[in-house]
Amino acid sequence: MDDLPPIPAKAAETLSDMLDNCACIEPGQNVLVLAANDGLRGGVNLVDEATVGWVAAGVRERGAEARVMWVDMPERPAVVWPDIATTDTAWRIPADVKAAMKEADILISHVFDLSSEEHLKELPQTLREFELPMVRNMATTASLMMSDWARTPHDLIAEIRYRMGEFIVAGEPWEVTHPNGTHLKGTVGPGPKTRPTYVYWRRDGFYRPFPDGIYPAVDPVGCEGVYIFDRMMPIWAHNIGVPPKFNAPVTLTVADNHVVKVEGGPEAKVLSGFLAALAKSLGEDQAYEIRAPHGGVHPSAFVMSSECPDEDYREFIASFHPFSLHMHLGQGGRNKDFPYNLHTACEIRGGRLTVGKNTVHDGDRLAVAADPRVLEVAARTPDRPGVSGIRPLTQ
Ligand SMILES: [Fe+2]
Repeated sequence: MDDLPPIPAKAAETLSDMLDNCACIEPGQNVLVLAANDGLRGGVNLVDEATVGWVAAGVRERGAEARVMWVDMPERPAVVWPDIATTDTAWRIPADVKAAMKEADILISHVFDLSSEEHLKELPQTLREFELPMVRNMATTASLMMSDWARTPHDLIAEIRYRMGEFIVAGEPWEVTHPNGTHLKGTVGPGPKTRPTYVYWRRDGFYRPFPDGIYPAVDPVGCEGVYIFDRMMPIWAHNIGVPPKFNAPVTLTVADNHVVKVEGGPEAKVLSGFLAALAKSLGEDQAYEIRAPHGGVHPSAFVMSSECPDEDYREFIASFHPFSLHMHLGQGGRNKDFPYNLHTACEIRGGRLTVGKNTVHDGDRLAVAADPRVLEVAARTPDRPGVSGIRPLTQ
């Protein structure tokens, strides 16, 4: 592309890391580079043309084909209830995107609306059907590419994440506490049927977030107690109709893995209504069941407004910092007619997770921060952001 601006050195580091260590581009591959038009003009799919151009150029430099596709994402209401759609009535991946995905060997997506965790089930189903790995490049603008968040080596985050998974052991008791009065406890379950382990690398899967940032979720069994939170990750906050930062804390009372009481201010009222609507769609048992906890593993997951003016996007990034821990509400995966990846992420900052005798996560401290295997990976790239944003725990 003749009119592509020169890439700043910091962004070039990020680009190489993403293409070589996350996408693992090989010569001869057909790579689909996807972005959404609205993101250039203030829409949710935040992106800039330079980043997409640099990604395509980097793919071609590695001897692969790059097809750049700019798309209009379907319009739909932000709030998904009270009449929750079914798989027949929900919005779909645009047909031309799906056709392009079928032809590709790898997808590098810059489309916030297409994530395999927070939006349509159709996306992960399609990735599996087409055997198509998707890199979700969240560093979608030049300034985000240059941030410490994006420049933290992908292999370092992967190592931290993997080692955190080793602390989550099926059959052990777990607890989440927070100075705000949160106290939940349960037993670590075996994990989801699709992946009955807590220790796995993302590089083997169809979903490869870049930068990565969350350790595997505890599969809770027999969870009970109280969970008090005052924020929710922005995507499902907007789908439910609450602000990402609440006006008043919400207190959930949990018994036998299910929410039995929702108390608080205006957000508690909206959340109660949503869960009631969800119960009509999923059934009572699945709507009120809780999932996770888990939290962030990225030492530099804070960006400044000069790096990203969009507050929701900054909050989304901050949810990957070890300071952040969250639970999920609802088991949307068990009902095939429910179209969404239900990702009601109730977030607390500064919480503590223990599994068995080990404190896994306490505020911005992680059990693996001083693990020699983590430090060895960090030492390979002394000029890049490392583990200084997290502190070790003394058990
Ligand atoms: Fe989560």
